[in-house]
Amino acid sequence: MLTVRSLLVLGLLWAVEAAPQNRGGRGGRNGGGQTAQTAQDQAAQIPQGISQATDGSTIVDTTATINGLDIRFKISGPADQFTTASGVDGATQVAGAQGANGLNVLLHGDGGQSFFDMPNQAVQGNLMGVAVLAPDPNLFWGGGSGLDRTDGVAHAQAVNDLITDVLPQMMAFNSSNVFFTGVSGGSLLLSGFFVPAHMTNFKGNGVMLNCGALTPQVNFVDADAVMASTRIHYQSTQQELTLLQPAIPEAIQTYEQAATAAGLSVAQIGQLQTVDNTPNSGHCEFDGADFVNGVQLMANSYAAIMQGGNGRVDGIGSVLNPVPGNENLQFAAANKRGMDMKLKI
Ligand SMILES: *[C@@H]1O[C@H](CO)[C@@H](O)[C@H](O)[C@H]1NC(C)=O
Repeated sequence: MLTVRSLLVLGLLWAVEAAPQNRGGRGGRNGGGQTAQTAQDQAAQIPQGISQATDGSTIVDTTATINGLDIRFKISGPADQFTTASGVDGATQVAGAQGANGLNVLLHGDGGQSFFDMPNQAVQGNLMGVAVLAPDPNLFWGGGSGLDRTDGVAHAQAVNDLITDVLPQMMAFNSSNVFFTGVSGGSLLLSGFFVPAHMTNFKGNGVMLNCGALTPQVNFVDADAVMASTRIHYQSTQQELTLLQPAIPEAIQTYEQAATAAGLSVAQIGQLQTVDNTPNSGHCEFDGADFVNGVQLMANSYAAIMQGGNGRVDGIGSVLNPVPGNENLQFAAANKRGMDMKLKI
């Protein structure tokens, strides 16, 4: 069932993004023929290359082999910030150059929707967008399924190495200014694996965990310094997936305990760690209605939430509720649709 839903999501994207080659696609998209393909197979049919972002930035969509994994990624920024080796017209930079802008690296939810949407493609708050596609047949970050992300260690390592080794070959960026965004399964990979294993390389920045969070599943490297310097915002909704309703508060409490252990005061923790689940809607539907628009809304509000802004999100108000005192997130009663929504993570 997971696979079928993922294929449908990708099928729709395929129809939108590659319409000229797939004019007859309506029958194909709903027909049985494509069900033999994995979500990864379908994604591979969406062409890579260079395109223009909504703000006029240049997007390069390409693949690098990292630790034996094929890691497809997109990077979006002003043309002149790309390296001359990137193939972008107007590129001026040499590999490894530091740039004025930082990065906002996004990990999509199960099935890859937000990789293709790339809601962070516009430069915002001096952060250029990066989106990375999970190297998994189902396009699940960390592989496995549900809360059991069996390839989390390898996938987190690949994301780290992409940023430290591969992206500097493509783009000049400020390596001290690298933020992260998770969507659903991408949030599980970030909180469960990436933050404890690799955030030591990105101290002083932040992680927005949309519609998902997991307690650290691996040893927490440099925990005190990471917790003392990392902004974390958890965003969920009232009708969050049944599976995630206990997992998100457990993660919140564990990260809060790590901050306390690092010697932070309640006030300091409340500045660094914030949480909201006000919208009375389903998984990732932060606009109150829709997955794609809801994720876009959070991306549009990134600087306001993560980079010292007023925390206001259209339709919600300020989401900067301090974690201390709000650890035990309350959800509306799970409903039957909740289980169906599981297919989207
Ligand atoms: C790089 O980012 C760090 C952290 O935000 C900042 O302190 C520094 O001024 C930035 N450097 C440049 C050249 O913009």
